Amino acid sequence: MKGRTDIVLGVQWGDEGKGRVVDVLASEAGAVVRYQGGANAGHTVVVENEKYVFHLLPSGILYPEKLCVIGNGVVLDPEALFEELDGLAARGKKLARLIVSHAAHIVMPYHKMIDRLAEGARSDAARIGTTGRGIGPCYADKYERIGIRAEDLVNPDVLRDKLSRTLKIKNDILTKIYGAEALDFDELFAQSLKWGERLAPLLGDAFLEIDGAIRDGRNVLFEGAQATLLDIDHGTYPFVTSSSPCAGGACTGAGIGPSRIDRVIGVTKAYCTRVGEGPFPTEEHGELGEELRRKGGEFGATTGRPRRCGWCDLVAVDYAVKVNGLDGIALTKLDVLDDFDEIKVCVAYETGGAVRNHFPSSCVELAGAKPVYKSLPGWKCNISKCRSFEELPPAARDYVNFIEEYTGIPVLLIGVGVGREDTIRRGL
Ligand code: GDP
Ligand code: IMO
Ligand code: MG
Repeated sequence: MKGRTDIVLGVQWGDEGKGRVVDVLASEAGAVVRYQGGANAGHTVVVENEKYVFHLLPSGILYPEKLCVIGNGVVLDPEALFEELDGLAARGKKLARLIVSHAAHIVMPYHKMIDRLAEGARSDAARIGTTGRGIGPCYADKYERIGIRAEDLVNPDVLRDKLSRTLKIKNDILTKIYGAEALDFDELFAQSLKWGERLAPLLGDAFLEIDGAIRDGRNVLFEGAQATLLDIDHGTYPFVTSSSPCAGGACTGAGIGPSRIDRVIGVTKAYCTRVGEGPFPTEEHGELGEELRRKGGEFGATTGRPRRCGWCDLVAVDYAVKVNGLDGIALTKLDVLDDFDEIKVCVAYETGGAVRNHFPSSCVELAGAKPVYKSLPGWKCNISKCRSFEELPPAARDYVNFIEEYTGIPVLLIGVGVGREDTIRRGL
């Protein structure tokens, strides 16, 4: 019997609650796989009032009997990984078995330095607002074919050769372009070998482990980081991350064929947020944005930055349905809207005097788009104890029904609080 495979990915600009959804679904899965991104992600999971934020570790890591996989598409910062593992060990947690793909690229210190220096050198208009975790520079090296892979850290001869060639280029960039200090080869080489020693027992053929789990009849979850609108191809370029969070990225980033994916689930916040720069048509700049930020606790899980907040944009959600082939939505943070008299939702854009209901492929066009809203009545009561759809007040059900009608796909899970149990499941 073949296990079921679900991709769980972000629909908006990240922080939709992917970690908490994966944590809920992981109870019935055998394996959880991260397929792209790196320590730029911050996935929050709350279990028995204890909060965990995962950057590199898959959000199934708290289940000791499961398998967690860091796939080839991830860029892995060894320091960040060890810090996470040590943090959980210090909290006395028993963890899932962890496998790291030998092909995952390593985020080196020069990647983080160049990320921050490049960001600092950009003009106001060009600034991306990266997390400074070295993500863009590491993926750039991967595609330039000068990257260091996890397997290289356990092979001193290969590492010496690769690192000496790459570091020459990086030191030129650091010193000649940014006027920064050069990095010392011997120090970095020794450091990398130390990382390799600790990483060695974790390295494996990630795709084989995944294949084995599916063949054994275990369900596998592919956990996206970032989100559709931050995707390097489908997002609001250049205000995006440097990987492929969309559904296709799960196949390349984990080593699984598209025909073996059963469902693609899009995690969508009941409103919308964005961290960093770039267009955000439904952003609320005034008191309303503040209220959403306050009630939703919208501060970055990785950088602590205040998140920009606004209403849910169904034009964007519908775009995510199409580019990912979404089968269903996991709607999170519905409880955050409990006190609002009116819930607005964007159903079209006005651009250049015309009304359109599809997401523009040009970021410039999106920046000029004005949202056309549909207003729905709020429910004005606490829904955090609801555990079935029928228990929700009629106005909350109407909001969910409206999202389903607009997108043409079902809302299969609803989040009504931060905890594992604060979840309404409707077929997921
Ligand atoms: P991720 O990056 O997509 O995993 O999301 P983050 O963890 O960065 O941000 C989501 C935040 O919302 C976290 O603080 C979660 O604890 C919280 N959260 C997730 N789902 C819900 C929900 O249904 N209700 C409320 N009130 N908070 C939620
Ligand atoms: P999770 O997985 C929200 C944003 C950054 C910046 C842009 C590029 O927790 O949803 P990068 O460091 O990737 O080069 O930054 O992408 N960004 C995120 N925003 N959630 C994330 O991850 C993000 N990861 C990157 O703020 O705008
Ligand atoms: Mg996050």
